[in-house]
Amino acid sequence: MDQILILDYGSQYTQLIARRVRELGVYTDIAPGDSPLDAERLRNVKGIIMGGSPWSVYDEGAPVPDSALYSLGIPVLGVCYGAQRMTRDYGGSVSTLADREYGKRPVVLTESDPLFAGVASSFQSWMSHGDSIESLAPGFRVVATTDNGIPAAIVHESLPLRGVQFHPEVTHCEHGNDILANFVFGICSCERSWTMQRYVDEARDALRERVGASPVLLLISGGVDSTVAAALLLKTLDPDLVHLLYIDTGLMRKNESAEVMSTLNALGATHVNRVNAEEDFLSALAGVSDPEEKRRVIGDMFITVQQREVERLGLGDDYFLAQGTLYTDLIESGKGVGTKAHVIKSHHNVRSPLVEKKRIEGRIVEPLDRLYKDEVRALGRVLGVDEAVVSRHPFPGPGLGVRVLGEVTREKCDTLRDADDIYTRELRTRGLYDRIWQAFAVLLPVRSVGVAGDVRRYGWTVALRAVASSDGMTADVFEFPLKDLLEISAMITNRVPAVGRVVYDISSKPPATIEWE
Ligand code: XMP
Repeated sequence: MDQILILDYGSQYTQLIARRVRELGVYTDIAPGDSPLDAERLRNVKGIIMGGSPWSVYDEGAPVPDSALYSLGIPVLGVCYGAQRMTRDYGGSVSTLADREYGKRPVVLTESDPLFAGVASSFQSWMSHGDSIESLAPGFRVVATTDNGIPAAIVHESLPLRGVQFHPEVTHCEHGNDILANFVFGICSCERSWTMQRYVDEARDALRERVGASPVLLLISGGVDSTVAAALLLKTLDPDLVHLLYIDTGLMRKNESAEVMSTLNALGATHVNRVNAEEDFLSALAGVSDPEEKRRVIGDMFITVQQREVERLGLGDDYFLAQGTLYTDLIESGKGVGTKAHVIKSHHNVRSPLVEKKRIEGRIVEPLDRLYKDEVRALGRVLGVDEAVVSRHPFPGPGLGVRVLGEVTREKCDTLRDADDIYTRELRTRGLYDRIWQAFAVLLPVRSVGVAGDVRRYGWTVALRAVASSDGMTADVFEFPLKDLLEISAMITNRVPAVGRVVYDISSKPPATIEWE
C-alpha cells in the first residue's frame, strides 16, 4: 500500500499533516526527523513531507534529516521548518523575521507548478513562522509569495523538491487540502488505497500469522477502542480463540454493563467473562476522598481483580494479550515522535504487571496501533459495531469514581447515574450529542436547601459539563441553548429526588480540566 512518510521535527501540526493525508485516502507514517532513510523505512514510500518545528535551522542541535533524503528521487515537500531546512541544506540562507508571521496571510502564485494545479491565483494561507527563507539555495525558484514579498513556496528546477512556508494542513488555509492532494496524487502518484476495509483485510492476515491457534485475551472497558478491538479480533480470528474480560467496577454509567454485554454478543463473542467487582471497588474506596488517592485505589484494584480473574480463566501460558493501543498512544509514548520534540504528553494507561509480563514474553497484539481515533470509529462502522457505541463520548478509566466528588458510595453513584442518564438521553433526543465532544454530569459534595411542594428539601448539587474539543488537550465550553439547559435541569430535579440543584460548568480548559477530579 502506497505511503507518505512524514518526518517529524516536533511541530504541533505534524499529526495534523498525517491525518489530512489519510483523509485523502493515503496511508501515512510519522518518523523522527533524523531517522535513517534505509530501504526498510522507505518500503512503499511514494513521497516524504518534512514537518514544521519549534527549532530554528541555526539552533545548536537543530534536527537534520538523513543526508540521503534529497537524492532519493522520491518527491519531498518541506512544510515551514522543512522548507527552511531544505534551503539551508542546499546552501541558501534563513533569517529571523522582525515580526513573526502568524495567522491568515494572502499568498499570490507567481509561476505555475503542479503543487498548485487548480488552485486560485491568490488565496488566504495559514502561517506560523518566526524564521523565513532569506536567500534561495542554488537550483530553487520561488513560485508563490506572501503580500509582503516573503517566499511562500519554492521549487527545485530539476529535482522533485518543494517547500512551502505556510501550513496547508491547517483548516484555515484556503486550498490546503487541494495542495496536499496535488502533492500526494499529482506529484507522488499515490493510489487512494487507505480504507478501513483494506485495514481489516491486512489485519486478518497479520493477526492470523501472529497468533496461530493460541487464545487471545482482551480486556474490555466499554469504551470505543476496546469494543472495536474486540470486533476486529472476532471478525478476523476464529471467535473461539477470543476471550473477552469485562470488569464491572460499579463505577460505570447507567445500564452500561448490560449494553457492553449485548454489544459483544451481537458481534459474535462466545467467551465473554463479566466480573462483578462493585463490592471490591466500593469497599476499597470507602473513606477515601482525595482525588489522586481515589485514582490510585481504583488503579490498584483494577490490577488485583485483573490478576485474579485472568488466573481464573486458566488460559495457560501461551495466550496473547490484545490491547486497544492507538497510533497516537505510540507517538505520545515516544516511539514515533521526533527525538527533538519539545513536548511529549503523558497519558493515563495503567501499566499492569500482566501487561509487562506479556510484553516481555512478546505476546502483546495491538490491532489498532496504526489508527487515529476517528479511524477507529470508521473501522467500528465497517465491522458493524452499533453506532451508539462508535460515537460515544470518551469516559475516563476511573469512571464515576472521579465524577462523584469526595467520598464515593453506591447511593451517590446511583444518584449520579440517574442524573447523567437523563442528561445524555436528552442530548441525543435533542440532536446535541454529536455536536459535543464530551458531556457528563458530576455529583458535587454540596447539599443545599430547596422546596418540593410545601416541604423543604436538602438535596445534592449536580453540575453538567459539555465541551467542544478536538483531542481533549484543550476544550471550550459548549454554548448550550439556554432553553435545553433549563428543561434538562427541571427533568433532573423532578425525576431524581436526591438532587435539589443543577448548575452548568462554564469553565474552559485551560485553566480548568474537563473532569472535575
Ligand atoms: P482532563 O480532565 O485531564 O481530561 O481535562 C482530558 C480527557 O481525558 C479523560 N480522562 C481520563 N481518561 N483515565 C482515562 O482513561 C483517567 O484517569 C482520565 N482522566 C481524564 C477525560 O475524560 C477527558 O476526555
